Amino acid sequence: MKILITGGAGFIASHVADAYVANGHEVVIVDNLSTGKTKFVPEKAKFIEADITDKETIQRIIREEKPEVINHHAAHIQVGYSVENPQFDAENNIIGILNIMEAAKDIGVKKVIMAATGGAMYGNKQTPFDETMKEQPLSPYGISKRAGELYLNYYHELYNIPFVSLRYSNVYGPRQNAHGESGVVAIFSEMIMAGKTPLINGDGTHTRDYVYVGDVVKANLLALETEFVGELNIGTTTEISTNEVFDIVVTELGSDIKKEYGPARPGEQVTSSLSYQKAKEVLGWEPEMSFPEGVKKVAAWYKEQ
Ligand SMILES: NC(=O)c1ccc[n+]([C@@H]2O[C@H](COP(=O)([O-])OP(=O)(O)OC[C@H]3O[C@@H](n4cnc5c(N)ncnc54)[C@H](O)[C@@H]3O)[C@@H](O)[C@H]2O)c1
Repeated sequence: MKILITGGAGFIASHVADAYVANGHEVVIVDNLSTGKTKFVPEKAKFIEADITDKETIQRIIREEKPEVINHHAAHIQVGYSVENPQFDAENNIIGILNIMEAAKDIGVKKVIMAATGGAMYGNKQTPFDETMKEQPLSPYGISKRAGELYLNYYHELYNIPFVSLRYSNVYGPRQNAHGESGVVAIFSEMIMAGKTPLINGDGTHTRDYVYVGDVVKANLLALETEFVGELNIGTTTEISTNEVFDIVVTELGSDIKKEYGPARPGEQVTSSLSYQKAKEVLGWEPEMSFPEGVKKVAAWYKEQ
């Protein structure tokens, strides 16, 4: 199959691109390299540097390349910055997907797979979150991701373009950018490797659901095959505290750095985890990597750098 991957030079989608290439698909990657790196682009993929907010360019690329599937991972991903600059977030995550879908409908694309958020989608509810719960995103980032899904529903209803929206929990793994604000495994690993002590925000008891990038890749492979159309949580249901993340990263990196705490971030969710029962039913997907094993892989990757 010919698959166009947006954001394919980034952390998650470069792993997806590797797997699609390994499975014999023809892959075209579009990325503006704002956080992505060309060294992550698989050799056998075609790379086009372009911005999805540039309507003319992205639509010309889609019309010329005529992919059968679009896997959409390009996005602005910083929740904090989306609060400071909601217009920038919406430009990338709402106008961006509209630019893509208007061209996708013209070429009759057969499927769209989108990277959405589970962690920022449901608001403050009892965990684990499942897809029957009302979406109540509390940040412009969560709102823009939900808007993307609503547009995909619209293009499905009106133009019969099937879609799968994968609502990831906190994804971690090799290649994650430590300069964002959400990749705590990457942030802790990079700082500890540099001999610095990362500050834990608050008392470290807040929990998150950490899903390994290899498991996320499997969901992107299964999404190619399924007849299912709609939204699916991709997480582990297991809640891990920031203190536990710190301890495991320190152990795997063989460091003896001690915890230091900074001020809590106002308004931050205390807990977050996703039920993956629906993904299990419709895709046969389940997370396989345990958190300590996954962190071992991240640590090994950092040691190679
Ligand atoms: N990392 C997580 O925990 C997580 C959780 C939920 C959802 N997601 C979603 O997964 C996707 C990938 O996230 P990631 O963690 O790999 O981040 P990332 O920053 O590594 O990847 C994003 C990629 O998109 C590119 N990009 C950004 N804006 C672009 C634009 N306007 N035009 C073209 N390319 C652009 C970047 O250069 C980068 O290569 C995003 O859509 C994100 O919202 C990530």
